[in-house]
Amino acid sequence: MMQQSVEESTVGGNMSMSSDENTVVVLGCGAVSVDFLATVAAYPRPDQKIRSTSFKVQGGGNAGNALTCISRLGLKPRLISKVANDTQGREILHELQLDGVDTSYMAVSPEGTSPFTYIIVDSQTKSRTCIHTPGFPPMEPVDLPESSLLSALNGARIVYFDGRLHETALVVAHEAVKKNIPILMDAERLREGLDDLLKLSDYVVCAAQFPQAWTEASTVPKALVCMLLRLSNIKFVIVTLGKNGCIMLERSDNGDPSTEEVDVDKLLESLEMRKNGNIYIPTCISSPVTKLRAEGLGTVCGRLYVATAENIPPSELVDTTGAGDAFVGAVIYAICANFAREKMLCFAATVAAAKCRALGARSGLPYSTDSLLSSFMQ
Ligand SMILES: Nc1ncnc2c1ncn2[C@@H]1O[C@H](COP(=O)(O)OP(=O)(O)OP(=O)(O)O)[C@@H](O)[C@H]1O
Ligand SMILES: *[C@@H]1O[C@H](CO)[C@@H](O)[C@H](O)[C@H]1NC(C)=O
Repeated sequence: MMQQSVEESTVGGNMSMSSDENTVVVLGCGAVSVDFLATVAAYPRPDQKIRSTSFKVQGGGNAGNALTCISRLGLKPRLISKVANDTQGREILHELQLDGVDTSYMAVSPEGTSPFTYIIVDSQTKSRTCIHTPGFPPMEPVDLPESSLLSALNGARIVYFDGRLHETALVVAHEAVKKNIPILMDAERLREGLDDLLKLSDYVVCAAQFPQAWTEASTVPKALVCMLLRLSNIKFVIVTLGKNGCIMLERSDNGDPSTEEVDVDKLLESLEMRKNGNIYIPTCISSPVTKLRAEGLGTVCGRLYVATAENIPPSELVDTTGAGDAFVGAVIYAICANFAREKMLCFAATVAAAKCRALGARSGLPYSTDSLLSSFMQ
């Protein structure tokens, strides 16, 4: 089964993983898993027995997915994570290798079990329910010898964390800071050790609930301002909102100090009114650089962006599992490719939408040569 999905996920793909020495290297540290995906006509009630309508076994985990995305887009990802030397662990590694992800920094435990996830995709609501079983034994900093750490960081353009394996991640992050390598953090939810990683981050991409959960601010725009106030290194923070697209707040250090303050909630409202929801492809609009006020929290100088998601027809929307990982992978690519911010957000929405058209976190991830990306890649 596993073998089948490995082959499937690479069919039609660009298998000529470039060994070009100029290829941009991205180092990621975080979760890998085997995903057991089943689609069902409707989500079962407790104790009910039902049949799946389709099934797939495929590699998963936030870091595994995002780095697969990055590889297919043409960069050279390296992954720090841990599996056990069981059938599933070997398949996780094999599948990543077929996708061009460098797994030579992975820890492989002779004993124990590899992480796996049951995912139920409800065809009616398109919800995806995940039951994750962490791998054992867990990854510890000793699993990454210093020589491996240094060689993994060697030549890396950016480092990415998904918030898992936080003790190891923090060691990697400190070394990255020492070497002036920027850090991008995917902040899905409150986790142990997350704050330490956030403090060292240059870029943050958050799931919908995260900004308010972390700041306790009353609105998302206020929460984004609050994040920039508390995390002085952050250049931008993005919050993804599923089919409602995303919002980004980018810090600006060279704002005109004489400009009037603008209430950030009102500014978002005015951008939302201008955004065009009738177009099928992702679009992005932004405010000028402004002094943004979050009532009761403070002000930052920055620029607010609002981007739409692709409007996927219901018949083409298959599964949103890993949409966030695809989005993050595309943002990392865009940073490395020096895309303008508007282009970055439209690109990430396009890559994530392609992912949503197939079952599983990886099957739909596009390749740099895919025609759907041609307008971004020239
Ligand atoms: N139903 C959808 N239609 C179109 N685009 C979508 C849809 N769902 C997600 N996307 C795209 O993917 C991006 C990320 O999605 P979302 O906010 O759901 O991430 P997430 O909750 O972190 O996902 P996951 O945890 O499954 O990786 C969105 O900003 C959007 O561009
Ligand atoms: C994994 O186990 C196989 C035998 O089942 C052995 O040949 C191989 O060396 C082991 N690899 C690691 C990294 O422990």
